[in-house]
Amino acid sequence: MTGFDYHEPVLCDAVVGLLNPEGERLYLDATVGGGGHARRILEHCGGCRVLAVDRDPDALAEARVALGEYSERVRFLHRRFDRALTDVEIRDRGLDGALLDLGVSSHQLDEEGRGFAFRRGLALDMRMDTTESSDAALLLATASEDRLASVFRDYGEEPKARRLAREILKRRASAPLETSDDLVAALSVTLRRSPSQRDKARIFQAVRIAVNEELESLEMGLPAIREALNDRGILVVIAYHSLEDRVVKNAFREWSKACICPPELPLCTCRGVPLGKTLTRKPIRPDEDEIGRNPRARSARLRAWRRAA
Ligand SMILES: C[S@@+](CC[C@H](N)C(=O)[O-])C[C@H]1O[C@@H](n2cnc3c(N)ncnc32)[C@H](O)[C@@H]1O
Repeated sequence: MTGFDYHEPVLCDAVVGLLNPEGERLYLDATVGGGGHARRILEHCGGCRVLAVDRDPDALAEARVALGEYSERVRFLHRRFDRALTDVEIRDRGLDGALLDLGVSSHQLDEEGRGFAFRRGLALDMRMDTTESSDAALLLATASEDRLASVFRDYGEEPKARRLAREILKRRASAPLETSDDLVAALSVTLRRSPSQRDKARIFQAVRIAVNEELESLEMGLPAIREALNDRGILVVIAYHSLEDRVVKNAFREWSKACICPPELPLCTCRGVPLGKTLTRKPIRPDEDEIGRNPRARSARLRAWRRAA
């Protein structure tokens, strides 16, 4: 399997237009997935290099095949992106651009064994990194009522989050929740009706975000990438839900302010120079053509920021 069978990259023209790869620059594709965006970067410029990161070993194996013809200019790293910035090449050369295309790939969603979807009878796994041990079943088996309630409320915006957490604790006292059906059954009892696709999508997404510590990784990764950018280096982020988009929007807004000293500091020590500039006043969204070709692009929101010279 290669290229778009695995995952169709979204907003490719905007990504390449903003990064504008040229010369012998170094780019970080922090979420390489099936390699679609990385390929576009490498195609666009014959001399630049890409450091291709993903926490999913299966994605890296796919990207290695998909980017085989560029193997001399790509290096692959199996890592969470917020832990990739200590890489020696990044430390030596700095980054001229970086891309975060967040969330899960189509392949991860479609592959039944990964347990990301809420189709019937699937094991509750949802790990992006299959070498890690904590999966969705473990979270539902061990997290406290408070923790589960906050996962469903904060990540799933579920009004009955506390009741769902209690229902899970009640059920797991007699038998562990092991499959998607077990989680849907707990949700049905909580809602006192058959959950809609939307209800299920929100709850499964909430569990996925918690299992993979997605927001923590983003919150730590953004400033680490900013610090690794060379002067005028560009960071492009594509988010697929409002929680992650809000983190990106707020980070870019903070970094673009003239003064970024903490409010309790009596004097400005940052010399009033913004760290950089937000390049997208509003997020870039896919047009109807792209959504028609690739309905999963519908929720994508792209934001970009440039480090000051
Ligand atoms: C939307 S897909 C990226 C698709 C890719 N741009 C392409 O063109 O095929 C997201 C990928 O990011 C990876 N990922 C998500 N969060 C990550 C993180 N914190 N660190 C490293 N990889 C991550 C997932 O495993 C998945 O393969």
